Amino acid sequence: MRLIQTPRFAALLVGAAFLSACDVAREPSANEAVPLATATADAPTTQPLAEDSNLYGNCEPGEGGSGKTYMGREIAEVMGHFGVGWLERPEREREERTDLLVAAMTLKPTDAVADIGAGSGYFTMRISPLVPEGVVYATDIQSEMLDIVTERALEVGALNVMPVLGRIDHCGLEPKSVDVVLFVDAYHEFSHPREMMRSIAAALKPGGRVVLVEYRAEDPEVRIKERHKMTEAQARREMEAVGLEFVENIATLPQQHILVFKVSPER
Ligand SMILES: C[S@@+](CC[C@H](N)C(=O)[O-])C[C@H]1O[C@@H](n2cnc3c(N)ncnc32)[C@H](O)[C@@H]1O
Repeated sequence: MRLIQTPRFAALLVGAAFLSACDVAREPSANEAVPLATATADAPTTQPLAEDSNLYGNCEPGEGGSGKTYMGREIAEVMGHFGVGWLERPEREREERTDLLVAAMTLKPTDAVADIGAGSGYFTMRISPLVPEGVVYATDIQSEMLDIVTERALEVGALNVMPVLGRIDHCGLEPKSVDVVLFVDAYHEFSHPREMMRSIAAALKPGGRVVLVEYRAEDPEVRIKERHKMTEAQARREMEAVGLEFVENIATLPQQHILVFKVSPER
């Protein structure tokens, strides 16, 4: 597991020593400028499989798009850390009913949860008190985001929050280490969705769940750029491609799908 090590994170790590079965890797210090591309260690960590050669294509970039395609959709551009103000806007709870989203996760106090593409930790910080005997891995590819998460966790003494610097093609989590994986408004911007999802499926414990939250592309009233929305059908195709089984679509949010998937308990 690749945990980010900065002076602020080191303090959190000391506090969280009881969670320590982790392999702490040296990452750039807080004082070093870390542009997105270098923070993410672009070189793939996994050997591409033979079938991967035809997975991705190219297209003329649409609004908010990356110009790279996967399973018939254009992958969105990554939101940079300058977008934190939008993620943390005070009206977000009312607009997106983030309270209902967290409730829909039906977490147990002992759960190990991974908030993948955690950004500034909006959900990590809300999940942390719900799993007092568990852990929340806040993963992202931008170290600037993880610095914010670390600072917030230290401020409130949330010692069960563990920042993890992922890679563009690997979530950075140990095999069979998490009960629930959450993605909110993040999956559609993964540049290597197949490789990421394989690493995530491997990180789930038997019977573990994926909770995928995306703006509804079926709904013209949802005023978000097209590349930043997904249909249920598209999401199901992409999750099923890595062996995840669809469980349900929890239709309680004003603008987003809550799509739940599981790994087989026999795996
Ligand atoms: C729009 S933000 C959403 C943040 C957070 N989930 C929220 O809803 O507040 C998407 C985040 O996904 C991260 N991201 C993009 N590709 C990623 C990848 N392959 N692995 C982990 N995080 C990734 C970005 O760096 C960004 O912080």
